[in-house]
Amino acid sequence: MQDVTSTRTQVAVVGGGPAGLVVSHLLHTAGIESVVLDTRDVEEIATTHRAGILEQDSVRLLTETGVYAAGAERVLTDGDRHEGVFLRFGGESHRVDFEALVGASVWLYPQTEVFVDLHAARTRDGGDLRYGVSDTAVHDLGGRRPRVTYRDTGGAEHEVVADLVVGADGSRSASRDLVAAPERWSRTYPFAWFGILCEAPKSAPELVYTRSERGFALISQRTESVQRMYFQCDPDEDPDAWSDDRIWSELQARVAGSDGFALQEGPVLERTVLPFRSFVQAPMRSGPLLLAGDAAHTVPPTGAKGLNLALADARLLAEHVELALTKGDLDVLDGYTARALERVWRVQHFSYWMTAMLHLGADSTDFDERRQRAELAGLVSSEAGSTYLAEAYTGWPTR
Ligand code: PHB
Repeated sequence: MQDVTSTRTQVAVVGGGPAGLVVSHLLHTAGIESVVLDTRDVEEIATTHRAGILEQDSVRLLTETGVYAAGAERVLTDGDRHEGVFLRFGGESHRVDFEALVGASVWLYPQTEVFVDLHAARTRDGGDLRYGVSDTAVHDLGGRRPRVTYRDTGGAEHEVVADLVVGADGSRSASRDLVAAPERWSRTYPFAWFGILCEAPKSAPELVYTRSERGFALISQRTESVQRMYFQCDPDEDPDAWSDDRIWSELQARVAGSDGFALQEGPVLERTVLPFRSFVQAPMRSGPLLLAGDAAHTVPPTGAKGLNLALADARLLAEHVELALTKGDLDVLDGYTARALERVWRVQHFSYWMTAMLHLGADSTDFDERRQRAELAGLVSSEAGSTYLAEAYTGWPTR
């Protein structure tokens, strides 16, 4: 039999995206060792475009837990603080002022950058990160010591023996199937988002969420010269069937109006169709296994909550793990699911609500259209109406 190289650690983290890395980082700050495993390589994760909005507590987590060296908080220097957002409907933009309503802001800072920062922090702090592995499998969850086995890039067999295992392996998680007797809730949508990255100047100082007769559109940003935009499309739309001209005329038609808003065009650098789904699995803990982020729940991209929710999970998870390992009592982990799910369901509702308010349904009638416009008009003309959006978008405080 071939030799298996064995490593002993306290926590084996399956998944080295932002969720897994932030768990490993927070555990490190609590003096707890972990090994992070991922089948993808660093380059692949660092170049997979995802949403770009951080809640205020997500920024706080990055800046206050030692992810950055003091004075080198990239999220603050390279990110863009947004004190509000535009809702556009009936051909006019209406600003929702987060600072005025709830005294909070969000930061435009892409998830890929969060990954790069967390990866740099774990590397600087001597973290044991193993990317590009294959055949990852979790064993002995019912025994005294769970193990994760895998093959390295050269094909050699390894095992990581741990006290606890964290499943942070994303929306196609294999870890979630190891939870005993899970309950699952999900909702599908009859549409998806067509996402582009393009070379163009900014069209607006903040994000523009648009409802039009032709469906939803979102004008987001990346840098002074590169922008990110989305529009509602069919779930099986082929991104390559769209020329630049076709993309721009669709986006222009959706944001058209009489208030002088001018959508800036340029070459399309990348195009993808993003799936749309709401999903929750519980419990988020089963014996020594804990789930974090997309492995346990998925939200549609409207409102950009996915990463924020993963960071909130990580914070709670690290707290519970620290207590359980200090006390030597895994029963402490029981509290994790209930605490995490409280936020998860609130965010599920918010993401669903924002989606429903701005998208065209498959069998949308004139009644639905008028009702939707009335909802938006009611929201932007009422402090009570817009305060929920401001509070949910900037994020409920973590506690
Ligand atoms: C993005 O910039 O990628 C983004 C922003 C807000 C969303 C979704 C995606 O709601």
